[in-house]
Amino acid sequence: MVAIEVVLGDITRENVDAIVTAANESLLGGGGVDGAIHRAAGPRLARAGGAIGPCEPGEAMPTPAFDLDPPVRHIIHTVGPVWEGGGHGEDDVLASCYRRSLQVADELDARTVAFPAIATGVYGFPAERAARIAIATIRSVSTNVQRVRLVAFDEGTRDQLQAALAATG
Ligand code: APR
Repeated sequence: MVAIEVVLGDITRENVDAIVTAANESLLGGGGVDGAIHRAAGPRLARAGGAIGPCEPGEAMPTPAFDLDPPVRHIIHTVGPVWEGGGHGEDDVLASCYRRSLQVADELDARTVAFPAIATGVYGFPAERAARIAIATIRSVSTNVQRVRLVAFDEGTRDQLQAALAATG
C-alpha cells in the first residue's frame, strides 16, 4: 500500500527518485510547475522532451532529471486535461495521468515520487475534484512505489488535498 503525503512547497526542492511535471503535449516546457522544473533541470530537459514528444493527454513519459540535484533521477512528463466543464472525459484523463505516471515510475524502479496538482492551474481543473481523483487513483493502482508526495504550491490546494486524503482514511 503506497504511503501518501500532502506537503506545501516547491516541487523542484523535493528529495525523491522522480518528480512529475504537468507538461503540455510538446514536452518542450511551458509556464507554471513545468516552467519551474525546466528552469531547475536546465536546457537539456527541453531537448530531451522534444526528442520523445508529443505526449498525449493522460499519457506519461520519462526523461532524466539533468541539473536537478540527487536523489532526483527522473522527471515524468504527463499532460493533464484542459477543463471544459466536466463533460468531455476530463476526469478519466486526469486519473490516467496519475495511473500512467505510477506505471512509468515502476518501470524506472522509482520508490518515491512527487506530484504537483496536475491540471489545476492553467488547465483550470477544479482543485477539490482533482484532489479526489488524485487520491482515489493513487490508491487504486498496484505499484512498487512506496511513497507519493502530493506537493501543493498554495494553501488552498494543500487543504483540498489533505481533505481528500482524510476522506479516504
Ligand atoms: N511546485 C509545485 N507546484 C507548482 C509549482 C512548483 N514550483 N509551480 C506551480 N505549481 C502548481 C500550480 O499552482 C498548480 O496548482 O502546479 C499546479 C498545476 O498548474 P500548472 O503548472 O498551470 O499546470 P496545468 O494546470 O496542468 O497546465 C499545464 O501550463 O505551464 C503550462 O506547459 C504547461 O501547457 C501546460 C499547462
